[in-house]
Amino acid sequence: MKFFVDTAEIDAIAELNALGMVDGVTTNPSLIMKSGRDILEVTKEICDMVSGPVSAEVVALKAEDMIAEGRKLAEIAPNIAVKVPLTWDGLKACKVLTDEGNMVNVTLCFTPNQALLAAKAGATFISPFIGRLDDLNTDGLGLIAEIRTIYDNFGFETNILAASIRTPNHMSDCAKIGADVATAPPNVIKAMANHVLTDKGLDQFVKDAEKAGIKIL
Ligand code: G3P
Repeated sequence: MKFFVDTAEIDAIAELNALGMVDGVTTNPSLIMKSGRDILEVTKEICDMVSGPVSAEVVALKAEDMIAEGRKLAEIAPNIAVKVPLTWDGLKACKVLTDEGNMVNVTLCFTPNQALLAAKAGATFISPFIGRLDDLNTDGLGLIAEIRTIYDNFGFETNILAASIRTPNHMSDCAKIGADVATAPPNVIKAMANHVLTDKGLDQFVKDAEKAGIKIL
């Protein structure tokens, strides 16, 4: 499973990128707002740092306006994936932009039918939002599983990009189900390293190393 980082914070991306943890980056208008940066400038910086796909989202609602914005975003760098919402207009924009050779990420997906439509429209990525479904006491991971089955049944090449990931367990569960990509905030990716028994075991090793006077350098 590929790891995308769901942020527009340059320092956080750089830290994870240095560890080989960044196969791509996803942003959206909320994350751009949080960064306090200009969308074109910050997206260019991210594209220069990361070789994988960098999703940048349109803000228009009509297909023709989304297409114009998508073309402008795609000019930033060859690794831009234009992000469009899963509306009828978004699907129209997806078809045009993918036909022009751009990567397109269709976002705000909450049902298998929406994912089916995105694949038919040629989407490079479909972004089901699992955390927001869990918030409503519904089954976010179940949606990933349903889309996996549908895409595999018919050989759709659209990549399942699990989004709205909130916990380390979401990451391992998405990997088990077979999501192609999971995009998560930096703190969730870092939290995947944590275990209380790791901390406890290390504490004991440190104490014993001191007692035994072990020195390596
Ligand atoms: O990748 C989509 C993500 O940014 C939304 O996450 O936590 O706001 O549902 P969240």
